Amino acid sequence: MQTDPTPQAQAQPQRIGVPREIFPLEKRVATVPDVVEKLIKLGFTVAVESGAGDAANFSDEAYRAAGAEVLPDAAALWAASDIVFKVRPPSSDEVGLMREGGTLIDFIWPAQNPQLMEQLAARKATVLAIDCLPRTLSRAQKMDALTSTAGVSGYRAVIEAANAFGRFFNGQITAAGKVPPAKVFIAGAGVAGLAAIGTAANLGAVVRANDTRAEVADQVKSLGGEFVKVDYEEEGSGGGGYAKVMSEGFQAAQRQMYATEAKNADIIITTALIPGKPAPKLITAEMVQSMKPGSVIVDMAAEQGGNCELTVPGEAVVRHGVTIVGYTDLASRLAKQSSTLYATNLLRLTEELCKAKDGHAVVNMEDDAIRGLTVVKDGAITWPAPPLKAAPAPAPKAAAPVAEKKSAHGPGEPMSGKTLTIVFAVLAVLFWAIGAHAPVAFLSHFTVFVLACFIGYMVVWNVTPALHTPLMSVTNAISSIIAIGALVQIAPPEAGANGRPDGLIMWLAFAALVLTAVNMFGGFAVTRRMLAMFRK
Ligand code: NAI
Repeated sequence: MQTDPTPQAQAQPQRIGVPREIFPLEKRVATVPDVVEKLIKLGFTVAVESGAGDAANFSDEAYRAAGAEVLPDAAALWAASDIVFKVRPPSSDEVGLMREGGTLIDFIWPAQNPQLMEQLAARKATVLAIDCLPRTLSRAQKMDALTSTAGVSGYRAVIEAANAFGRFFNGQITAAGKVPPAKVFIAGAGVAGLAAIGTAANLGAVVRANDTRAEVADQVKSLGGEFVKVDYEEEGSGGGGYAKVMSEGFQAAQRQMYATEAKNADIIITTALIPGKPAPKLITAEMVQSMKPGSVIVDMAAEQGGNCELTVPGEAVVRHGVTIVGYTDLASRLAKQSSTLYATNLLRLTEELCKAKDGHAVVNMEDDAIRGLTVVKDGAITWPAPPLKAAPAPAPKAAAPVAEKKSAHGPGEPMSGKTLTIVFAVLAVLFWAIGAHAPVAFLSHFTVFVLACFIGYMVVWNVTPALHTPLMSVTNAISSIIAIGALVQIAPPEAGANGRPDGLIMWLAFAALVLTAVNMFGGFAVTRRMLAMFRK
């Protein structure tokens, strides 16, 4: 990675290296052969440690065929790489192998790993921690490895539950008797929870879910689940889409509700997390005891201490006849899928780092997404990043009118009284000049045009930005009013003596009519589909 590259360094493309993951049970790999080809198209060379993709079913041969060089061991790989892609944070030994001044793109979890941060800084490294991506930036979503990993884990949690559960998920009526559907309760409906809801519902289970953030209720419903509310009024959003620690009162009401749900559920999948805090304990030992024998709990928060009091991280244990799965490698259990998604996230990040496609990555600290990710820059610890300049999340309702008024003059500050007077004066002179000199026919059209601009502006400005795309498609459809113009041309009032218009004009008008019809019907159809996405 370079901030001030020498001409000689510029000439040599940088090499991206992918070592074999050495963390126990880790099967993922940080890039896959399909992505290797795309990295090479960006101008980089790629090296992979022999056997790096074996556990995820990507052979050395496949990497070679994609254009990567396969190096025999970790020492050779780290020594040869300008930029290293990894999945798990590096061990001390791996940091020791790293090139001085090299770049690492990896999950780092700086808050939990201060010692690792010091070691990386001592190596004069530049480190982009993929877990520090500012996820609320819409531009950053393509690089969001937390989301893609959580989606895979949520799916796998259901598969693990089905494996440990002794019955079908879907209800069936057979000659041998009636089978009721499995009842699944999901605690926490973030990315992983929503993936679990969708998967369990698709398998035919009856799914209920709870989250402290009330805003997820619609998402739960849209995936086929039922949202179960805690009987206590408190907003659970802690900002940026994440949860906060709830009050004692809320927690007591939530425990009561969870006790009822636990008694009824066959399977509980817990995913509740609060950034920077231990996982909230939601499922007590008594709740486990109240469950039917043969029931299953999958605790996806096991690594952060677990949502269930009886979880043993990394293991599946049976307590009071209930199997409690505390695996901490759920994403790794679908290694091929999660490696492919992770590799794509890193490719998107590399594209951002190498806009010139010249095989040289540039860490632009002025870019919000890159700034957020960069936790060590040329040996200096730059974590945590300052808060984002502009919060992209929608403003709270109470603040909305103020925000709207401000933005009525564009993204900047509202116009001062003086500027406003000057603008009005210029416009007045302009209109006077047009009125005094323009032909009468032009004036009537011009008046309609100005009014249309004014009304259009007022209408669009009062529509929430989320609805701007459907609004555009409907305006597109309405603009097809020009069809009337085409119709008039096909049979104009001043048509020739035989009552027929000029042939060429008629055919042009006919073509205009056909194209306008496509615009009109297409516009309304697209609008309908888009609005359906917003309907509850
Ligand atoms: P997470 O893994 O930190 O938390 C999982 C879920 O647990 C969250 O939905 C949280 O509200 C819930 N939870 C926490 N404490 C709880 C409790 N005591 N009881 C019940 N539920 C509890 O979060 P994750 O899945 O990484 O992201 C959470 C949300 O962040 C997403 O649902 C999304 O809305 C938002 N997000 C937004 C992004 C964007 O704007 N581009 C990108 C990624 C996430």
